[in-house]
Amino acid sequence: MKKILFLGIIIVLCVVIPSFYFLVSPQLQPTPILSNKRPVVGVVLQKDGKHGTYVVYSNYVKALEGSGAKVVPVWINENESYYQSIISSINGLVFPGGSADLLDPTDIGGAGQILFDLAAKLNDEGVHFPILGVCQGFQLLATASARQKVLISCNGTIKDNLPVKFIEDPHQSYLFKSAPPQVVEILRNEAITPNIHSLCVTRGNLNRLGLITEWRVLSIDYTKNGLEYVTSMEHTRYPFAGVQFHPEKSIYDLSENSKYVSNYTAVFANRWFYDWLVMEARMNGNTFSNISVNDRIIDRYCPELITSKYGTVLNYYFNSTLNSTVKRVDGWDEQVSVRELKDNSNVNEKN
Ligand SMILES: *[C@@H]1O[C@H](CO)[C@@H](O)[C@H](O)[C@H]1NC(C)=O
Ligand SMILES: *[C@@H]1O[C@H](CO)[C@@H](O)[C@H](O)[C@H]1NC(C)=O
Ligand SMILES: *[C@@H]1O[C@H](CO)[C@@H](O)[C@H](O)[C@H]1NC(C)=O
Ligand SMILES: *[C@@H]1O[C@H](CO)[C@@H](O)[C@H](O)[C@H]1NC(C)=O
Ligand SMILES: *[C@@H]1O[C@H](CO)[C@@H](O)[C@H](O)[C@H]1NC(C)=O
Ligand SMILES: *[C@@H]1O[C@H](CO)[C@@H](O)[C@H](O)[C@H]1NC(C)=O
Repeated sequence: MKKILFLGIIIVLCVVIPSFYFLVSPQLQPTPILSNKRPVVGVVLQKDGKHGTYVVYSNYVKALEGSGAKVVPVWINENESYYQSIISSINGLVFPGGSADLLDPTDIGGAGQILFDLAAKLNDEGVHFPILGVCQGFQLLATASARQKVLISCNGTIKDNLPVKFIEDPHQSYLFKSAPPQVVEILRNEAITPNIHSLCVTRGNLNRLGLITEWRVLSIDYTKNGLEYVTSMEHTRYPFAGVQFHPEKSIYDLSENSKYVSNYTAVFANRWFYDWLVMEARMNGNTFSNISVNDRIIDRYCPELITSKYGTVLNYYFNSTLNSTVKRVDGWDEQVSVRELKDNSNVNEKN
């Protein structure tokens, strides 16, 4: 009798109460397995007419590194086997901002389409592979999923620091559900997201192209003429998210008279988007199979400080792709670097 009572208590404690807990906590999310401690994120190149053949803006690199990732450049205009190989070696991707023709197959749009399809396939196969699209990169996410022109003119360049006008509860969204609550409140209430663009993605166009079920629009805004456009969205099945604004510009703009807001709250809230991407990338276990990440890392190249009418920027320029040897960091010696890395890892383990 005592045994049965004891068993009964055990069952109530271990089975009934926890089941009840799960029943009343439908929002409970499984704890993500953030097992990848040093994720590697690819940033896709784009053509650059003026200074070299291809460019990566260092803002994106710095933002990713600040959130804990290593960064590798992903070349454009390469063949399918290159993209297959690179996407199974890295843990996430950023489609950056810029001013490319997204329908030019030899520019970032062509590479973006292949990478988008491969990333979708990986996710379908159960490999968690995230993408963050920023400004042009956000527009690229829409264009790649439509496989045709999506963008319309905003009828004038939008150049403003804006609050985020949420149309969905951000706390229920994939992009913001694990954000600190203050991040959402700052984004909602303070004019701190840097916006500079003259092309727009609209709900009308997403709807017309049958994409409104594929993308959940999280926020919108309006042009001076009253045109409604999308400012953030996330994919309904994959860990892909895009923002029309430039979170990294609030932190890394180098212009003397920067128009962006870099105060405490602006920096705190704008960091979230890269933190999100890198956190998602930590759930991916891809690795370079037979070379060191540091053989592909962007730190091998030397960025240049450029001042133009767009302000002061630090950019990585490349004249060729896969075997590019231009502008490597002075004094980088492959043999030495490998030895130093080994030595450092020993030191770290001892400490
Ligand atoms: C690329 O080539 C051009 C023309 O040869 C040269 O002026 C420029 O410095 C090169 N850029 C890089 C990053 O090597
Ligand atoms: C793809 O490109 C790489 C390097 O550019 C080359 O080594 C490889 O042979 C190419 N593969 C195909 C199938 O063309
Ligand atoms: C942009 O402006 C032109 C001319 O003013 C107008 O015909 C067009 O409808 C506008 N487009 C949008 C999307 O507002
Ligand atoms: C930062 O700037 C924004 C926009 O001007 C403002 O709303 C906010 O109060 C500022 N935050 C701080 C901490 O000064
Ligand atoms: C690394 O692996 C890839 C794919 O398995 C192969 O194509 C390539 O030749 C290998 N490279 C080296 C340096 O072994
Ligand atoms: C890159 O360099 C390797 C070794 O030097 C060579 O086999 C390969 O063909 C080169 N690839 C390209 C795209 O030039």
